[in-house]
Amino acid sequence: MTTDMRHAVVEVLKDSEAVAMEMARLLIRTVKEKQQGRVRIALSGGSTPKQLFAILAQPDMARQVDWSRVEIFYGDERHVPEGHADSNHASARELLLSRVSIPAAQVHPMPTAATVAEDAASYQSVLEQAYGATKLEAGRPLFDIVMLGLGTDGHTASLFPGEPVLEEKKAWVGVAAPRTAPHERLTLTYPAIASSALVVFLVTGENKVPMLARLRQGDGSIPSGRIVSEGKILILADEAAAGELS
Ligand code: 6PG
Repeated sequence: MTTDMRHAVVEVLKDSEAVAMEMARLLIRTVKEKQQGRVRIALSGGSTPKQLFAILAQPDMARQVDWSRVEIFYGDERHVPEGHADSNHASARELLLSRVSIPAAQVHPMPTAATVAEDAASYQSVLEQAYGATKLEAGRPLFDIVMLGLGTDGHTASLFPGEPVLEEKKAWVGVAAPRTAPHERLTLTYPAIASSALVVFLVTGENKVPMLARLRQGDGSIPSGRIVSEGKILILADEAAAGELS
C-alpha cells in the first residue's frame, strides 16, 4: 500500500509541547513494538524537533527507549562544517544524542566535508550499508520512521520548490541549493522517504497555516504535497498551525 498526503492521518494538539510529547511517545512505542532488528529513524531538521529532542533526553523518557536498538539518520543537512550553529546534526547531538546511551556507531550524520555531490554519494553508501542492499525493495522499508518538517514555502527535508532533486527517481540522497533558505544542502529524495513504515510531519506555529492546509489537500504544486510512504503518513500539528481547521 502507498499512502499519499490526501490519506494522511492528522492529529491536532494543543500546542508545540503537546506535539513534541506525542512524537516522543510514538517513538518510544515504535521501538518497543518492533520485534527484531534495529529501528531506523530519520530525524527532521530546523527548529521544530528541538522540543522533541529535549523531551526525549529527559531521564524518565530516555529510560523508556532501548537505545541499543535505535539507528539515527537525517532527512537533510545544511552543507556546513561539523558543529556549525546551523547544522541539524549539531542540534540533535547537543539536545539529545549526547545525552542518551545510543552507540556512536548507530548515529549517522550526513557528511559535509567534501563537495555536496561527493557527500551525497557517501551518504547513499551509508544508507545502502544499513539497509543491506543497493535497491529499495517494496515491503521492506529503509526507515521505520521518517520525521519531516514543513517550510513556509511548502518544502520538506531539503526538497525545495524548483530544485532538480524533486525529479530524482533513483538516488536516495540528493543535493539542493535553495533560493529561499541558507546553505547548500543534502536531502533524502522522494524514493528514499517513500521507503518508510511511517512518515510523521511535525508542524507547529501559525506561520505554517497556509502550507499545512495545502499539504493536507495533497497539493502537488508544493514539494511536501508530493510525499508518499509505502506505510502510513501522520501529521502532528498544533492548533496554531491548524488554524480554523483545528
Ligand atoms: C531544515 C529542515 C526543514 C525544516 C523546515 C521547517 O533543515 O531546514 O529539515 O525541512 O523541517 O524548514 O523548519 P522549522 O522547524 O524551523 O520551522
